[in-house]
Amino acid sequence: MSRAIVTGASGGLGLEFAKLLAADHYDLVLIARSADTLIAIAADLKNRYGVNVETLPLDLSKPGAAAAVFARVSECDVLINNAGFGTNGRFEETSEERIREEVTLDVLTLTELARAYLPQMCARKAGRILNVASTAGFLPGPFMAVYYACKAYVISFSQAIAEELRGSGVTVTCLCPGPTATSFADRAHATQTRLFRVQPVSNAAAVALAGYRGMQRGRDLVIPGLWNNLVALSSRIAPRRILLWVSRKTNE
Ligand SMILES: NC(=O)c1ccc[n+]([C@@H]2O[C@H](COP(=O)([O-])OP(=O)(O)OC[C@H]3O[C@@H](n4cnc5c(N)ncnc54)[C@H](OP(=O)(O)O)[C@@H]3O)[C@@H](O)[C@H]2O)c1
Repeated sequence: MSRAIVTGASGGLGLEFAKLLAADHYDLVLIARSADTLIAIAADLKNRYGVNVETLPLDLSKPGAAAAVFARVSECDVLINNAGFGTNGRFEETSEERIREEVTLDVLTLTELARAYLPQMCARKAGRILNVASTAGFLPGPFMAVYYACKAYVISFSQAIAEELRGSGVTVTCLCPGPTATSFADRAHATQTRLFRVQPVSNAAAVALAGYRGMQRGRDLVIPGLWNNLVALSSRIAPRRILLWVSRKTNE
């Protein structure tokens, strides 16, 4: 039986990834801070799919979190680096602690988890990593500056190591969702922005399925939905000044 780790599995996209993996008979390690929610999800998945499900209640926004995960779970075949959050607001008014936690969770822990599990995947010549970025990673994001920059890192990092690993049997997929109906907007204080009021908002199960299928096919980049592909395309062809203006209007 293969084992998959899912970060941010207590809700939103992470929960959808956990369901897809359980349906494909993976044993699971579910990580998030909400211990009780994880236990309830684990019981449900065990019951429905007959797989083993461990829960690991952990705050992944603290330094050393990835090492703590690896100390508890030394082997994995599939790593879903999904946990993340954003912050809407002026950069200089955002607390230093929130910025530190956001960068640690969205960038550092994701990177360190990949570093922890890749050597064994390479030795086995098999393994899959799915890093969840965002269409936000294709452009600068005034009023969500740290989040957009973190997701730009995730795209760049994922594509670079995917290329290093080409032909090794190990694949790295980067999923870039656009606005999706989860707790994300609420937690980012972004429910009233044009990003979530004007743009099409995708269904979490559909976004996770697109990412999951892309990962199983070993694709480098998955951008679910026509609108999100237009955002990604425009980021490559539109002048930076115009992109910044649109992005500002989207987030303010
Ligand atoms: N929804 C969107 O519009 C959207 C768009 C593009 C990309 N994304 C990305 O998709 C990924 C999943 O987000 P989502 O939309 O599913 O949001 P969500 O509904 O808020 O879920 C976030 C998950 O991450 C966990 N998490 C948050 N902080 C954590 C921490 N410090 N330590 C451990 N776990 C933590 C949460 O669980 P606990 O609170 O229990 O810890 C939850 O399970 C994120 O990387 C996000 O940036 C989302």
